[in-house]
Amino acid sequence: MPLFWKSPQGTDTVDFDALPRHVAIIMDGNGRWAKQRGLPRTAGHAAGAETFRTIATYAKEIGLDYLTVYAFSTENWKRPANEVEAIMGLLKKYLLEAIDQMERDRVKMAFFGDLTPLTPELRELCQRTREISTHYEGCQVNICLNYGGRDEITRAARSLAAECVREGRDPDTITEEDISNRLFSAGVPDPDLIIRPSGEIRTSNFLLWQSAYSEYYFTDVLWPDFTKEELLKAISAYQKRSRRFGGV
Ligand code: IPE
Ligand code: IPE
Ligand code: MG
Repeated sequence: MPLFWKSPQGTDTVDFDALPRHVAIIMDGNGRWAKQRGLPRTAGHAAGAETFRTIATYAKEIGLDYLTVYAFSTENWKRPANEVEAIMGLLKKYLLEAIDQMERDRVKMAFFGDLTPLTPELRELCQRTREISTHYEGCQVNICLNYGGRDEITRAARSLAAECVREGRDPDTITEEDISNRLFSAGVPDPDLIIRPSGEIRTSNFLLWQSAYSEYYFTDVLWPDFTKEELLKAISAYQKRSRRFGGV
């Protein structure tokens, strides 16, 4: 792996010794990608799943510690049943393949979100993936499934409230760390860089707590068209930013 990347136009550069530790991606634009080609939306999701495979493998190759992807939100259940089914079907296919290849790829996987509404089969696959992952070190890929930032914070609040009632804990002792430790992302550092393809400039309920000081990168490229080079361009933009975290 070269220590430095320069885009063909020479405008973007990446220093591989100064990578963001944690990159998060809102994998958006599958439906529009399919529409542009006169295909059903589900074809866009299939293409998006391929892009995810490519980018997850590349993230490990360049040495990112964490890659978190938004695959299905708490609001995405509003979609037509056939689309939701197709997405769940692609997920099953992906997990079966991943389990098969984990030995070779040695990618660690985790899931953020409430998995209880998923089918028992899918839940079991997620569980198996997680278990196999405990044997591996290195890049961790977090897949956000039935994930919502508000839902995540609400659960943390409930858990703390229950602790106060059950153990008589004084609510004044609750710290930001107590909340962080009760999120799906407990133990994972906050994302340094959040990428949203597809031209939408909003968070859509993604990592609301964790993104307090994340750098955002937006691009019009639709997720199925997102390439390794697009990822490097986002990292290049990130490396040019000055992060102050409220300081000077
Ligand atoms: C993202 O692509 C995939 C999911 C939300 C599951 P979309 O399906 O939202 O694609 P657009 O935004 O309609 O193009
Ligand atoms: C966000 O995309 C969720 C995922 C990519 C999984 P959406 O397509 O659901 O977001 P909105 O509806 O455009 O805000
Ligand atoms: Mg969308």
